Amino acid sequence: RIPKTVEINGKTYHTDSWFNIPSNVLSLTSRKLHLQKDHPVSITRKIVESVFPAPTYRYYNTFDPVVSTYENFDSLGFPPDHPGRARTDTYYINKSTLLRTHTSAHEAELFRTNPTGGYLISADVYRRDEVDRSHYPVFHQMEGARYWDRNKVPDGNLPAAVLKDLDRLPKHNMTVQDENPPFHMKRNPLQPHHGPWDVEAVGAHLKRSLELMVCEIFTRARKAAVMAEAENSGLSTILASCVVPENEPLEVRWVEAYFPFTSPSWELEVYYQGDWLEILGCGVSQQSLHINAGKPDQVGWAFGIGLERVAMLLFQIPDIRLFWSQDERFLSQFRGVEDNLDKLRPFEPFSKHPACYKDVSFWLKGSSAAGGGTGGATDWHENDLMEVVRDTAGDCVEDVRLVDQFTHPKTGRRSLCYRINYRSLERTLTNAETNEMHQRVVEELVKRLGVEIR
Ligand code: PHE
Repeated sequence: RIPKTVEINGKTYHTDSWFNIPSNVLSLTSRKLHLQKDHPVSITRKIVESVFPAPTYRYYNTFDPVVSTYENFDSLGFPPDHPGRARTDTYYINKSTLLRTHTSAHEAELFRTNPTGGYLISADVYRRDEVDRSHYPVFHQMEGARYWDRNKVPDGNLPAAVLKDLDRLPKHNMTVQDENPPFHMKRNPLQPHHGPWDVEAVGAHLKRSLELMVCEIFTRARKAAVMAEAENSGLSTILASCVVPENEPLEVRWVEAYFPFTSPSWELEVYYQGDWLEILGCGVSQQSLHINAGKPDQVGWAFGIGLERVAMLLFQIPDIRLFWSQDERFLSQFRGVEDNLDKLRPFEPFSKHPACYKDVSFWLKGSSAAGGGTGGATDWHENDLMEVVRDTAGDCVEDVRLVDQFTHPKTGRRSLCYRINYRSLERTLTNAETNEMHQRVVEELVKRLGVEIR
C-alpha cells in the first residue's frame, strides 16, 4: 500500500516503511491557504505582520513543508524519545524526512542566514490528531523571532539596547496578569549564557510585542462584531463606525510553559467568553541554537501562534473544516478584506445542516482470550482511528468521540465505543448516504486496525 515515491510541490521523494501520509493530506500540501488572497488565514497573517513591521522583521512565507527529522526535532533540542516524534503523531515520508509539525523547524536555519534583527514565518504545518471542530491534520502557524547582537549594541550593554527598543513600541490598555518572575521557574532556568538583566529585558520586549499583537487582533474582532450588529439593525456604515466603542480592557495572562528550544518559556492566554484561551507559545531562545548557527553573540526571543485558532476568534468561524471549503458562500464573505481591514465582519454561517450520530463498538486486536488473554492491546493509538475516519468519510465528519470503554473481567479483552457525528458543512446528507459512509468506515477499521466489531 505504500507508494515507492511521492511528489510534493513538484519534488519527488523516496518513501520507506516510515511512510504514513494518507492521500487526502498529501493533496492539501499544495493549497497554501496562508497565501490565498482574501482567505481568512491569509487575512489573519496580514494582521499579525502589521504588528511586526519590515524592515526590522523579514517575512518568509514560502518555505516548503517537507523538512528533515533533524530540522523539525534534533536542531531544536528535542530528546530522542520525545513523544512528538512518534509515527502516531507525525507524518513521515521516510525515516529522515517528514511534513513539518511546526514552523520552528526553520528556526536554526534562519538564526544562521537571517541578518540580526528579526523574522516572521507563515506556513502550513501537519499533525496527526483527533477529529473535532478545532482540529484538522493540516493547519497554519506563524512564528516570529527578534534578536540582538551583544557585540553590536552600544557599550556592549544588551539590556539597555533592548529596553530602548521596548520604549519605542506602542503602549496598549490591556489588563495583564503576570505573576511569574521569569528566571525562578522550575523547568525554565536562567541559561548559563544569560545574565538576569538580559532575560529581564528580552522577556519584557517579548511580552509587550506579543501583547500588542493580541490587542490588535481582539480590537479588530470587536470592531467587526459591533459594525455587523449596527449594520444589521439598519444603520449606515458611516453611522455604524461611530458606535464602535472605545476598547473595554481586554484581559490576558502569562503562564509558565515548557519548550525544548526556549528558556524561560511562556504561554499567553486571553479571557474570552468566560474561559482562559491559550493563544501562543514563546520564550527566550536557547543560546545553543544561536551558537550552532555560528552566531554565538545573538540573544533574543521567539514565538509561535496557530493561525486558524486566531482566525476562528477573529471571524467567529465555528468549525475548522470551513477553512478548506471552496464554497462561494464561504469565500465570498472575505473578498476585499485583505486590502481594507475595516471591511472585516464576522462570518455568517450558511444554514447549519442536521447532525447524524452513528456509533461503532469493537474489541481491540491483540486483546482476545485466544490471543493470550493478557488484554494488553499495546499498539492501539486513537489517532489511527481518527485517520481511518478522515480518510474514509473526509470532511463529512464533524467530530469523533470515545463514548464508552469496557474491559471484560474474565478474558481481559478491551472494547471501545466511538460516536461519529456525520454532518456536512455544505449540504444535508441523506440517510442512505450516511449509512453507506458509516458502513465503509466500519469496514476500513476492521481491515486496517484489525478490530473486531461487536
Ligand atoms: N513551535 C511551538 C509549537 O508549535 C511554539 C513555539 C515557537 C514556542 C517558538 C516557543 C518559541 O507549539
